[in-house]
This record gives sequence, C-alpha cells and structure tokens, in this order.
Amino acid sequence: MTEWHPTSWQQKPARQQATYPSPEALDATLQQLSLLPPLVTSWEIESLKSQLAAASRGEAFLLQGGDCAEHFADCNSQIVTNKLKILLQMSLLLIHGLNKPVIRVGRIAGQYAKPRSADTETVEGVTLPSYRGDLINGPEFTAEARTPDPVRLLRGYGRAAMTLNFIRALSDCGFADLHHPENWDLDFMHHSPLGEEYQKVVSDLAHSLKFMETLGSARNQELNRIQFFTSHEGLHLHYEQSLTRQVPNRSGYYNLTTHLPWIGFRTATTTDAHVEYFSGIENPVGVKVGPGMSQQWIQELVERLNPRNEAGKLLFIHRFGAQRIGEELPGLIEAVQRTGQQVLWVSDPMHGNTESTRNGYKTRRFDNILGELEQAIAIHRDCGSVLGGVHFELTGDDVTECIGGARGLDEEGLKRAYKTQVDPRLNYEQALEMAMAITRRLGGDDR
Ligand code: PEP
Ligand code: CO
Repeated sequence: MTEWHPTSWQQKPARQQATYPSPEALDATLQQLSLLPPLVTSWEIESLKSQLAAASRGEAFLLQGGDCAEHFADCNSQIVTNKLKILLQMSLLLIHGLNKPVIRVGRIAGQYAKPRSADTETVEGVTLPSYRGDLINGPEFTAEARTPDPVRLLRGYGRAAMTLNFIRALSDCGFADLHHPENWDLDFMHHSPLGEEYQKVVSDLAHSLKFMETLGSARNQELNRIQFFTSHEGLHLHYEQSLTRQVPNRSGYYNLTTHLPWIGFRTATTTDAHVEYFSGIENPVGVKVGPGMSQQWIQELVERLNPRNEAGKLLFIHRFGAQRIGEELPGLIEAVQRTGQQVLWVSDPMHGNTESTRNGYKTRRFDNILGELEQAIAIHRDCGSVLGGVHFELTGDDVTECIGGARGLDEEGLKRAYKTQVDPRLNYEQALEMAMAITRRLGGDDR
C-alpha cells in the first residue's frame, strides 16, 4: 500500500472525471491554483467538525441545502442572497421547533461539478461529451462548449471566492442580526399561506431574545452575526487536490476549497480514487448512501474514512427514495452500530425520489420527499440511532420544479418557471414548508 498524499488517488480508478484535450494545459492550471490563497481555513473546518459531533449526539441539527448545481452565471447578488435568506429562515424555524442549535451548511461556493449517468450525449446523430458542470464544460450542445476546458477551474475558484466573500460579509453585519430577521424576508412572504406561521415563530423568537437580554445586562454580540459553512461534492479530484494543503501548527492535510466536501453515491466505491482521496483529509466528509449499498461496504467506508474514530468526522447522507428506505436503511444503521462508531446520519430525501413526467420534466413530488423524511425519522428512532440533519436541493427563488406543496403545484404548472439544468429543487415556499414539517415531526412533544 502506498502512503496517502493529495495525489495518491491518481493510482486508483477514478470515475466521473473529465478528459482534457491537453494534459499540459490542465497541469499548468493546477499549478496556478496551487499557489492561490485557500477559500476556507482549518479553524473553520475544525469548528464545524466539533459542531457536527454535537449533531451526531443529537445536541444540534444540521441543515444542508442549496442548488443541485451552481452555475457561473448565477454568481450574482440576488441569487446568493435569496439562497442565504431561505436557509436562514429554515434554520430559524428549526431552532425554534427543535430547541437546539442548527448548523447551516450551503451547497454553495463550489458546487460546480456534476456526476452524469453517461459520458456522452447524442442528439440527432451527433455525439458529444456530456455536460459535467460549469467547472468542466458548458451546457450548450456544441463541440466547443462540451470540450473540457481547464480555464474553467480558475473561473470556478474565482466564482467560489466571490460567493464566499459576499456570504462572509453578510454573515457578519446587520443582515445577519437575529434582532432583525425581517432582513431575511423574501418577497413572497406577504402573500403566502405559510407567511402567518413563519411570522409567529419570528415574533416568539424576538420575545425570547428580549427576555434573555433583560436577564443578562449586555447585548450578546454572538446574536448579531451568524455562522454559515460551505459544502460541495468533491468530484473533480484534480481541483480538490490543488487546494489540499498542510497548515501551520496542525498535522495532516486540509481540503481548503470548502468546509464539508462529500463523496457522491456514484463514486463511493471503497477501492476507487474518491475514497482514497477523502481518506487522507482532515475535513469532516460526507458520503451519499443509496440503494444497493451493502453492510460490508458501509463498514469499509467507516474504516477507510474515519480510522481514528474522530467525532464529527463522518456523515452518511442517505438517499434511498420513499419506496426503498424502509427495506434498506435499518440494516445499514445496524452495520454501523456494530463498528462502534458514532457517525452523523443525515437524510437527503431528494435524490431517491426523482421521476419524469409525461410531458418530459424531471421532477420530484413533495409528498415523496416528505414521506422519505418521515420514514427516516421513524427508522432512526426505532434503531436507537440519531437522525442529526437534513440535506435538500432548494433555491430561494420562485421556481416550479417539484410537484406539490401548499400551493398544490401540478404537472401542468411545472412549465411556468422550470429553470434547473440538472435536478429539480424545492422553491422557497416548498422549502419553508418542509422546515415546518420537520419541526412538527422531530420537535417538541412527539420526541
Ligand atoms: C447530488 O447531490 O446532486 C447528487 C448527484 O447526489 P447523489 O450522489 O446522491 O446521486
Ligand atoms: Co442533485
């Protein structure tokens, strides 16, 4: 066995990687990336890890969400702010309903690479490489757009840095002040059937804050700012490698592109390159767990990805679909329990519930999403395990991509604002409704 190094994954089979026409051009770009400043710091990563450890014990709750794929063109003020707003609003509902701290993690500032089911796409007899996300190539069906271009890696780094810069500025000023959650209102709140319930929670929280501040004499500075972490699928291993570094006064290597990278379901084979790369970094790491994963496989993942049994280090993000979770999840929970490790279990009720409508839209039904989540809660409870978080594909915008929810969006309605180029996302209203549903099922009396 060779020793781990940021490049040791290159000795293993790597799935879902792009083929660049010029390996020299790729190398030159990676060289440039390796000299640029990190996007996140080891302090932030370690802080997140200890918070995730609390979530694995049921003392905190993880809310992870954002786009299926970010696009370079969406790196603008409104889209970033709206995403932040919906995640902040959901987190308020969860804090209030679950009565515990909520760890906010966006699929943001780097979610630019996508796994695809086929390497190529054929349209009217023309075959081109599949679109793999803006980090790699363009979605337009032309040979030029679809050819992987390493310059996109630099552009992706730049977009991630700009997004993160804006998020950091917003998180540390008046915008994030818990005394003024009206800053997070999205336009729709004023005419939404859910508006009233949300406003009630906000006013409850305002009262609690006032009460706390009356007891303690000073205003708590911590309440004027929020913590917000980033995550993305660590799919493009060359990109991840170029920002994987040692830092002063700590041992080991950190992936400094993001706080929480995860391994997609399609690349979670233990003998392959992704697990090799992820086995050597100090960040907390997620693994998507889906249909067909065996007990032995999940135990090997535990062994490879968290050999020191570090708290908060390993997240299993399960996504079976409402139909299959009941038969698949209990055995895997028991298999992990037999390893003696405490991992953080997270439900992604999106990726196992994708379907196509008769009119050709890729969609997900609100009822199936909620159905999987409800089953996840019940199964963990029955197994004596903790469901410590949720993972959603959502947007702060008014899109029509998932069917159902309070407004009863139907198949016909999908076409009004169907914008995703990859997976369908919950819109702002459906996302908020989902947060309310979670608090009803996980919070308060029914615990
Ligand atoms: C995703 O999270 O967008 C994704 C592709 O998920 P999975 O690896 O679970 O299919
Ligand atoms: Co997706």
